[in-house]
This record gives sequence, structure tokens and C-alpha cells, in this order.
Amino acid sequence: MRIIALCLLLLGLATPLRAHQDRDSFANFNEVVSESIMLDLTVDFTRQRLSGSVEHHLRWLNPKSTRLTLDTKDLAVEKVEFLGQDQQWRPAAFLLGVGDSLRGQPLRIQLPEQAQTIRVSYFTKPTASALQWLTAAQSTEKKHPFLYTQSQAIHARSWIPLQDTPAKRLRYKARVVIPSYLKAVMSADLVRSDEAKGVYWFQMDQPVPSYLIALAVGDLKFKAIDNRSGVYGEATWLNEAAREFADVSKLVDAANALYGNFAWQRYDLLVLPSSFPFGGMEYPRIAFVTPTVLSGDQSLVSMVAHEMAHAWSGNLVTNANWQNVWLNEGMTNYVENRLMAKVYGQKRADQEFALNVAELYKELDSRHPSQTRLRPLWQGDDPELAFNQIAYVKGQLFLRWLAAQAGIDDFDRYLRGYFQRHAFQSIDSDDFIADLQRYLITPNELAITTEQLNIWLDGEGIPDFAVLPSAETFQAVEQVMHIWLTQQVPLSTLQTQRWSVQEWLYFLRRLPRQLSEAQLAELDSNYGFSSSKNAEIFTEWALLVVPLRHVIVDEQLREFLKTVGRIRYIEPLYRMLAATPQKREWMRKIYREARKSYHPQAQMLLDQIGL
Ligand code: BES
Ligand code: ZN
Repeated sequence: MRIIALCLLLLGLATPLRAHQDRDSFANFNEVVSESIMLDLTVDFTRQRLSGSVEHHLRWLNPKSTRLTLDTKDLAVEKVEFLGQDQQWRPAAFLLGVGDSLRGQPLRIQLPEQAQTIRVSYFTKPTASALQWLTAAQSTEKKHPFLYTQSQAIHARSWIPLQDTPAKRLRYKARVVIPSYLKAVMSADLVRSDEAKGVYWFQMDQPVPSYLIALAVGDLKFKAIDNRSGVYGEATWLNEAAREFADVSKLVDAANALYGNFAWQRYDLLVLPSSFPFGGMEYPRIAFVTPTVLSGDQSLVSMVAHEMAHAWSGNLVTNANWQNVWLNEGMTNYVENRLMAKVYGQKRADQEFALNVAELYKELDSRHPSQTRLRPLWQGDDPELAFNQIAYVKGQLFLRWLAAQAGIDDFDRYLRGYFQRHAFQSIDSDDFIADLQRYLITPNELAITTEQLNIWLDGEGIPDFAVLPSAETFQAVEQVMHIWLTQQVPLSTLQTQRWSVQEWLYFLRRLPRQLSEAQLAELDSNYGFSSSKNAEIFTEWALLVVPLRHVIVDEQLREFLKTVGRIRYIEPLYRMLAATPQKREWMRKIYREARKSYHPQAQMLLDQIGL
């Protein structure tokens, strides 16, 4: 036995799986795993409730155990049954144990035997943190209600009692009943539907971590882009989105060539109503995206590259727990940037990277040094706080540094192997380092020391040997800015006609915070920032102008805050307004009206700023 295992190891055929811990889950997944589930859910918009049952198919790892603990949050559990050896359903004893407000409550089930199948009947509460219930008035078309789920990091447990951990994977089937005038999509194949009755059957045969189970219900239409991709969404968005995402197949092809075959068959995109709190979310088969990326000029499509990159980093190879989220997000930032370079050119990719690094430095400034480690310690915080610039950009810097040591093409080849070796596995930083040693550092005799690797993972700040973006990236912008600020030259005579959106963003972020009213007016009349359709530019402009007591952007800002729910924009905007005394009342009024259209997670965040 030992010899066979050793041979397999030497051949590199099998990477043994270590048991991982996840302190953000109550589930005893190292004793018993739920390998597949079957959902049977009815969507009730009037009561804002999902109700029905979930069946779990179990594999027992501990031969002695007969207890199963699932994660729940805000769920009303009606009954738990198990399927006896005689194929009869029998009640099982259960109780909802003590938990906490972030992680919910453990559902402790005591079984009389190691049953293969158990079933939980339950319904959700209107406060379920994974669910955003939009009234017809809050949808884009304002005719029909809309519902979508958002389970990352630990919200799946608020709509399904399950082992809510990225350490394990499960296949799923679902039968979903919805009002017959709406349509449902999931991160799965649609096997069958009876639209007249509003019944949909979905199936996901590839095992996924729980946070990748997703459902959306609304007045959804579809428009194909190519054989593999298309856009779903309310009618308003379809044409715009199909145009904006026209290059999606180029991105998949580039990723296939670099990192191995796309594993998930289809790559569709669902455009959500503008209250969607994120830029995008990487579900297999279908990415959920904000309409704020529909800028009309493809300037923000790196978001598509990012969610697509997750098809490898994250969805194929998953962080075993949320303290290792850099393996998902930092690696994805790295891959995203490689895809952008291949499809849109190195220059654009370099600009986007430099903007990322600038955001990282801003975040480093605002944090205690002990809170800047790539591998944070578990401190009982909300795991969502781990999705920060440290994980995304310090993670990306670590990989850029490795690529610089190995040579970028060799590093791409290494990553291709890495995705293959760990496909459909969950790993942590130690697993990554072991793989790196064995398949990159040792065979290529790279001069990378254990100490350097430890500095990247557990050190504070940015290592002094990191490879940072070149100072030349935005030199032209710096020059123009300098001339405009120091010499009395009209803006219209300066060379800005060919600037990319990334260059404009750099410019707006770097402008001094004390411009005169005349300077602001000159900027706006030349470039029309106040009416920019680009949400990134608009946000930067408002952040610059409003604290200077200038009102040119007030009307548009009110409109923006009332329609857009993307946290990346509204959180800094509200923080800025809260810090601008003469705007506080104005802002409170907007927030009172806009709050109900924001996602529950965005509401919680903004409430904390004391609005
Ligand atoms: N997986 C994240 C979205 C997410 C983050 C969900 C935190 C839940 C908690 C997604 O891949 C992502 O990173 N989205 C970014 C866009 C990207 C271009 C950096 C976002 O939403 O801003
Ligand atoms: Zn991501």
C-alpha cells in the first residue's frame, strides 16, 4: 500500500489531500461529507421566502460517527428526516445550537445509523443575508420583482442548510418553482423547464464549493454572443451588454492557451439590476455582473477577465478556508492581468496593474501593520473582511515576483500544471508552497529562499524586494498634470485626447485636493466628468469635487446614489459625504430613500458608518 502511494507520488499523479480546518463553519466535514444535494424550493415574492427542502447525500469518513452538523443562518428548520435501509423516511433528532450573528447557528443532527441520505425541510427569513429581494419598483424595468443569491463568503447557509465551507465540494440538483411570468437561472445546467407552470430543473455535475451555488429569478431575457457565451438580464441591458462583452471568447481562448482547458462548458453573464453590491461574481457557467461596467467603450472589461480567471483560480482550485482567500483573489488578479495583456495589450495591462498597486498602498496606509499579512490569523472577524487589497493586490505582487524569478512564460506553464494538479481541490498556502517548491523552484533551480516565501506570506507591508510597476507607466499623465497645475496653460491645448480611461483615473486620483472653483469648472467643461457614463470616473470626480464645496456634480450624485448599489462606489462616496459637514443633511436624506434598494450587506456596512 505504502509503496503504491509512494510510486503515485513520485509519478506526480496524485497530490495527497490534507485535511483542512475552517473555523468559519460549524460543519463536521472531516467526519462526514455531503457530496451532493438536491434542492426543492419554491420562491415566494409576496412573503420574501424560499421554502422547501434539501436532501444531502453523505459519505462517512469517520466510521464511528453518526452525527452530522450543518451550517444555518436565519433559517426556520421544520423537520429533519433520514432515509432508512428500508427506503422509508424517518424523523431524525436535531437541534439548533449556539452560534453567533456572523456565522449563524449549527444544525446538530443525531442519526441512529450512518444514513446515506438525510432531508431537511425549512424556509428562509426575509432577512436572509444571501438574498436580495427586489420589488418591481427596484428592478431595472420596474415591472416585475427580482431575486438573486450572493453566498460568498458564508451566506449560503442563510438559504440552504449545508456544510458551508470552501474546504469541501458538492454536486447539486435543484427543482425551483417560481411565478410563471418570470425566469430562473442557476450556476448549473438547465435540464428541463415547464415555463407555463414556472418549474425549472437544474443540475450541476461538477463538484463546487458551497459559495458557488447561485440562483437568480426575474424578468430575464437572453442574447447570444457566440456558441459558448451570451448575456442574461432584463431587456434594458441586453444589447449594451452584448456589445460591451463582445470579446469574451477572445478572453476564454487566451486563458485556454495559457492555463489549460476551460472546465465549465459555458461562460454566460447575467447583468443584475444596478443595486448589485459587487462588480462581478464568478459562478461557474454564469458570472453575475453589475451594469456599472457597461461604460460603452469596453474600458472596464477587466472585470470580465477577472471573473473568467476565477474559472481556474477559485472555481477549479479553491481556498480551503477564508484566511487563504489570496489564493482565490490574488491569483485571479494575476491571471486577469495576463489575460488583459494578451487580449488588450501589455500597455493597458500595465496601467491597470499600476492602478491596483496604488490602491493597495492606500489601503496599507489605513491599516495597522499587523493587519497587512497575506495569510491573516483567524481572529473571529467577518471572513468578508479578508477580501481586501492585501489579498487581491499583495497576492498579485507575490505572484508577479515569482514570475519575475522564473520568467513569465515558465511561470505561466507552472500555473497551468498547478491548476491541473489541484483541479477540483481545496488547498491552503502551505499546499501552494509545497507545490511551488516541487514543480517550480527545485526543477528550475531558482534562487528563491524559504525565508523570502515566509516574508511574502507572513510578513507585514510590502517586501522590499517586490517587483513594483514601472514609474514610466503614467509618466505622460504626470507631465500634463504638472504643466496644467504650474503654468497657466489652458487644458484644451494639452495632449490628453488619446488618454485611456485608466490614464484619466490616474489623473483624477492624483490631482491635488485643493483646486480652485475655476480649475474644477475648466476640467468639467473640457471633459464632462459630471455627466460621465463611466462609473469609475464619475466616482473619482465626485470624490474630488464635493469636499471642495462645489455643487456641479450634486444632481448627478444624488441620482447615482439612488440607483447604484455597488459598494466599491457608494461606500467611499458616503464616507466622503459624512466627512463633509455641509453635505451631511443632504446625504442623510438621500440615504433614507436609497437604503431600501441597497443589498442587505451594503445596508449593514453603510449603517455602520453612522449614516
Ligand atoms: N468574488 C469576488 C466578489 C466578492 C467579493 C463576493 C467579496 C463576496 C465577497 C469577485 O471575483 C470580485 O473580486 N469582484 C470584484 C471585481 C474585480 C474586477 C476586482 C468586485 O466586485 O469589485
Ligand atoms: Zn475575484
